Amino acid sequence: MAEAIMLREYGGPERLRAEKVDLAPPGPGELRIRQTAIGVNFHDVYVRTGLYKTLPLPGIPGIEAVGVVEDMGPDVTGFSVGDRIGYVTGGYGAYASARNLPAAIALKLPDAIGDRLAATVLLKALTVEMLVRRVHRVEAGQTVLVHAAAGGVGRLLAQWAAGLGAVVIGTAGTPDKLRIAKEAGCAHVIPYRERDFVPEVLRLTGGRGVDVAYDSVGRDTFDGSLKVLAPLGRLVNFGQSSGPIPPFEISRLAAGSFSVVRPIVFHYLADAERRRDMAKNVFAAFADGLLTAEAGTAYPLADAGQAHAALEARSDRAPFILVPGDL
Ligand SMILES: NC(=O)c1ccc[n+]([C@@H]2O[C@H](COP(=O)([O-])OP(=O)(O)OC[C@H]3O[C@@H](n4cnc5c(N)ncnc54)[C@H](OP(=O)(O)O)[C@@H]3O)[C@@H](O)[C@H]2O)c1
Repeated sequence: MAEAIMLREYGGPERLRAEKVDLAPPGPGELRIRQTAIGVNFHDVYVRTGLYKTLPLPGIPGIEAVGVVEDMGPDVTGFSVGDRIGYVTGGYGAYASARNLPAAIALKLPDAIGDRLAATVLLKALTVEMLVRRVHRVEAGQTVLVHAAAGGVGRLLAQWAAGLGAVVIGTAGTPDKLRIAKEAGCAHVIPYRERDFVPEVLRLTGGRGVDVAYDSVGRDTFDGSLKVLAPLGRLVNFGQSSGPIPPFEISRLAAGSFSVVRPIVFHYLADAERRRDMAKNVFAAFADGLLTAEAGTAYPLADAGQAHAALEARSDRAPFILVPGDL
């Protein structure tokens, strides 16, 4: 038996309830993982509310976790009982104390990255690798806008882009978050809940605009992000924390040969060789000090709803992780 959070109906954080679930022995190609820390992501909120209907109900949400291999099914090679692994999966099931997992998606963790830190950053840092190295290549001298730059993804994104030599302009919602964004490497920060970021970005860039705008806020910022692109600039929309983006006229892109992309990290992680390459780059970024982070605020697994409520309330205690058993 394992403890798992079961989502039976879409709705508020109270829909996330702990249940006991049976666990079959690991099948061919599977690892049995005893999980030690589980990442909480904004994606999990979209799934819980039903904005994304990608988890068949009833189902166990959660797209990343860290743990120890306890058992292995037939045909597993390259792993041993006792290995520390982390994973990211579009197949859900991470909000659990134990689970079976395809060995093919497990990543062995370097000793230098502890379980709680890995569960805090794995998906977020892989997303950032995709954003700065693949969707758009950030280069020294570029000007980069990062919305929600104090968020879980946002602060790693600001760090990585600044580390590559870009001038990073960050937006954030509170004075504490503005400080976090600055510490993450933003050369300029804008309190976008108080002031329209569009004139601020144009002023900071001498009217030119930014080479790339990374926008995970969606409805509230998309239009402004288009307005602050430099000629040939790119808007990378990779989330919708404020809500879905209404349709827009594609002819607007002709004003500056702009492009808009809407990447999803799972598509990039689907190819095994690319997944290994992305993970290697992420672990190297932590080893080199390009990325630094602390373990997120921990909640007991059974209190997953409280972590969701805090994330949705834009808490500056984010990012969050869930821990099975005692905290
Ligand atoms: N495409 C992909 O593959 C991919 C992968 C990972 C994550 N993501 C996206 O990246 C974004 C960040 O994820 P995260 O888990 O690291 O979350 P997060 O950034 O820690 O939290 C979301 C932040 O968005 C800002 N925000 C603005 N308007 C909001 C609103 N109406 N409600 C709630 N938050 C609002 C808040 O920051 P302020 O208070 O500073 O405004 C909030 O802290 C999410 O949109 C997520 O879906 C996408």
